[in-house]
Amino acid sequence: MHAEGVPLSRIARQFGTPCFVYSRAALSASYRSYDAAFAGTDHLICYAVKANPALAILNLYARLGSGFDIVSGGELAQVLAAGGDARKTVFSGVGKTEEEMRQALAAGILCFNVESGSELERLARIAAAAGKTASISVRVNPDIDPRTHPYIATGLKENKFGVPYEEALALYRHARTLPHIAIAGVGCHIGSQITELSPFVAALERTLELADRLRAEGMAVAHIDVGGGLGIRYRDESPPAIADYARALAGCMGPRAVKLMLEPGRSLVGNAGILLTRVEYLKHGAGRNFAVVDAAMNDLIRPALYDAFHEVLPVARRTGDAVTYDIVGPVCETGDFLAGERKLAIAEGDLLAVMSAGAYGMSMSSNYNSRPRAAEIMADGTVTHVTRARESIADLMARERMLP
Ligand code: LLP
Repeated sequence: MHAEGVPLSRIARQFGTPCFVYSRAALSASYRSYDAAFAGTDHLICYAVKANPALAILNLYARLGSGFDIVSGGELAQVLAAGGDARKTVFSGVGKTEEEMRQALAAGILCFNVESGSELERLARIAAAAGKTASISVRVNPDIDPRTHPYIATGLKENKFGVPYEEALALYRHARTLPHIAIAGVGCHIGSQITELSPFVAALERTLELADRLRAEGMAVAHIDVGGGLGIRYRDESPPAIADYARALAGCMGPRAVKLMLEPGRSLVGNAGILLTRVEYLKHGAGRNFAVVDAAMNDLIRPALYDAFHEVLPVARRTGDAVTYDIVGPVCETGDFLAGERKLAIAEGDLLAVMSAGAYGMSMSSNYNSRPRAAEIMADGTVTHVTRARESIADLMARERMLP
């Protein structure tokens, strides 16, 4: 098995395991297919940094013309460090701090996606003190069921996100009276790993209804932000193709002279990366077999957290009988599994590729069990680049001090 033109066995030998391996070509291709699919519509793609904030990936997307969707001052700093354009950056999230607002205003971001009345008041005050005008959209909660995992559904009225649809109009009427606030658009984001078009269409229709109302009242709505959420194939899902997604959204927009903004994360990077790991032990238990690998829930928490499925493939094919294994890590938790019940012909020392690990893998990793974070390797044709060195044991302790 290769990443672009590079054998994964070579990557493992050279850089060790576990490591994340990304494909530059796949990362670029997914961005380009979004851009091409929306070519007929005035649009801006704002890559959702949380999916994978690797500077190499942010820089690649900045070079392709992408904007960014951030949710913290940390992500803002990463975007700027990677050469991203603040004027193409939108700031989402329910808990923006005063300091984060100041940083974003100083950087000159495109838009704050405001999620509550209190946040709007705070932003107005911070902008006034800074002598700036903050452009905003209100993130409305359209109360649409995205039919995804409950932990990543965000556009239902019981979720913490956004402003209830019924209250959004009043908030806009108030916002227009605030001297340091400029209304720029309307936003929504209904969830993640959505594999059908209808929730997106329903959410956009509701958002447009509000936008039309705002325009009728003389408020300038320059953009509609539909958020992210387009799903990918992990196992047998058949998510809409980007082109069909684009057609459906453009269809809703109709002839309105409004820019369409998108915040895709997973659908750009998810299938452009794998987690490469080595089998340390094969353990045959009472009625269950375990392949203990050197990657763990601290590297990829999705299976433990959401019961998410990731395909696991042997890097080299081997003859012999396939045995059913649970693929587990060395962490001291029963929940430390990467995959359950996979039929594999493998031996100790073999390499496995945990597929679809480009999104929410490294970004949700931790140091649990005092495990240094994995290296990140970018395959680029026949060469590789270490885009993030493996953490060292010294890194783990670098910020600590003992008591005097
Ligand atoms: N915009 C906003 C405001 C978001 O909250 C998110 C994701 C996105 C865009 C990007 O969504 P995407 O296109 O990646 O679906 N850790 C979970 C996913 C959490 C998603 C959080 N918000 C997972 O591993 O499945």
